[in-house]
Amino acid sequence: MLKNTPRSILFICLGNICRSPLAEGVMRHVWENSGRSEDIHFDSAGTNGYHTGDAPDPRSVEVAKLHGIDISAQRCRQLTRDDFYTFDLILGMDQVNMATLAQRKPEDTTAHIALFTDIAGVGDMEIPDPYFGDMSGFEEVYRMVLSSSKALAARI
Ligand code: 4NP
Repeated sequence: MLKNTPRSILFICLGNICRSPLAEGVMRHVWENSGRSEDIHFDSAGTNGYHTGDAPDPRSVEVAKLHGIDISAQRCRQLTRDDFYTFDLILGMDQVNMATLAQRKPEDTTAHIALFTDIAGVGDMEIPDPYFGDMSGFEEVYRMVLSSSKALAARI
């Protein structure tokens, strides 16, 4: 169990168009259907800003839709310095994200920073970047994000 119920969780990946938008949408869905009443604010951001303002990758939108989750209204944004103070939990998808977060975090950050799968307790696994692959990679990301979201919700 986590020590405190987080009031806000920020999911981080490189581009904020493939993995972290799915994590945001799936975790919100899991939480809303968990029967728990605490309000948690969910958001996502990318360590790079290449796609700022864009909708999620159509393949992420599609895989979410296949599982009854609509992420099409999300818009890409880049991680900011403020995020390290306004979010309780900041969760990276892979070790590259974790290295960037470690580099950028202000010394007095109030956020707890962790690898998503690790804090969820499903194993210290990276959620692989599906951007240059085919649809099967997006299904794999969806499955990993779903099991991590369910496990994290149970720990909150
Ligand atoms: P994501 O995937 O980090 O899961 O959103 C990527 C999307 C775009 C790029 C890299 C990764 N890109 O370099 O444009």
